Amino acid sequence: MNDTSFDVKDFRRALSQFPTGVTVITTVDDRGEPIGVTASSFNSVSIDPALVLWSIDKGAHSLNAFENAEYFAVNVLSRDQVGTSNNFASRGEDKFANAAYSLGLGGSPVLDDYAAQFECKTWAVYDGGDHLILVGEVQEYRYRNAAEPLVFARGSYAISSAHPAISKPSECSDNGEFVGDYLLYLLRETYNRYSQELYPKLHQVGGVTPEEWRVLAILADRAEIDFETLAPLVMQPLEALRETVEWMENKALLNVKDNEVSLTQDGVALAEKLLTLAKSHEAEAMSALSQEQSELLKSSLRSIINNQT
Ligand SMILES: Cc1cc2nc3c(=O)[nH]c(=O)nc-3n(C[C@H](O)[C@H](O)[C@H](O)COP(=O)(O)O)c2cc1C
Repeated sequence: MNDTSFDVKDFRRALSQFPTGVTVITTVDDRGEPIGVTASSFNSVSIDPALVLWSIDKGAHSLNAFENAEYFAVNVLSRDQVGTSNNFASRGEDKFANAAYSLGLGGSPVLDDYAAQFECKTWAVYDGGDHLILVGEVQEYRYRNAAEPLVFARGSYAISSAHPAISKPSECSDNGEFVGDYLLYLLRETYNRYSQELYPKLHQVGGVTPEEWRVLAILADRAEIDFETLAPLVMQPLEALRETVEWMENKALLNVKDNEVSLTQDGVALAEKLLTLAKSHEAEAMSALSQEQSELLKSSLRSIINNQT
């Protein structure tokens, strides 16, 4: 039960429209054991004094350690650290077993990998409903300019990239200018121009969000899949995936039995309809090419992708 009149799941979905970064916040408990949790509630507060904040669920195992900690460290994750985020979001006993780190101020672990790091002295702890709000005064910080930050939005991991409006020429020509002949530019421009049309269509026709569409597309090719296998395929942390699946169960699109997710009859029908729609959207995007050219384009892209791994 909750005191608000809101539907909790719906309220969480509204909040998830606000993208954040992802951090692992660490400290040390009174037995000297390293403690860490994944947190997206991190934010800046004040420049002078240098203050930051984050909030911790009162149900978290590490609540006591953070409530009483004199110091904590904020490790802002980079795009390659989805595994680190999932590890510290688990309730596992030994989250540090697979982590490379050293000890920072007050013994708080600082990870070897990061986009930015803020070592803090606890400045204030406030009550925040079902969370505690922890404010820290930054004692030391460092960052890597070349590291792209990991983003969390709508319950999915994402990366940030320049907004397409920044560089959108009306016509893309091969007149010898650098951008018109640069593969990465061409790939990004193609993706930006066509992907932004797809999700609104999928929503209009099937009433699905991008996250739900990804689940449907994966399940269209298999009878069932367990949560742990599905989560990385759709780039969602386990808990967020469980919410996506619950929404889809309520719409009678999915069945869940013994940790296995499968499509219902309605789910199969909707997946077929949306896959057809996606394929016809693809055909439209490729309509300037002959059949032979589009097959060559796809096989060339596959070769580039495979060459890179
Ligand atoms: C992307 C992401 C962001 C999260 N943000 C927070 C947060 O800001 N505060 C929080 O208390 N839990 C957050 N969580 C959940 C905790 O990481 C998770 O509950 C973890 O198990 C807590 O660890 P503990 O129970 O060992 O303390 C987040 C999880 C993910 C995947």
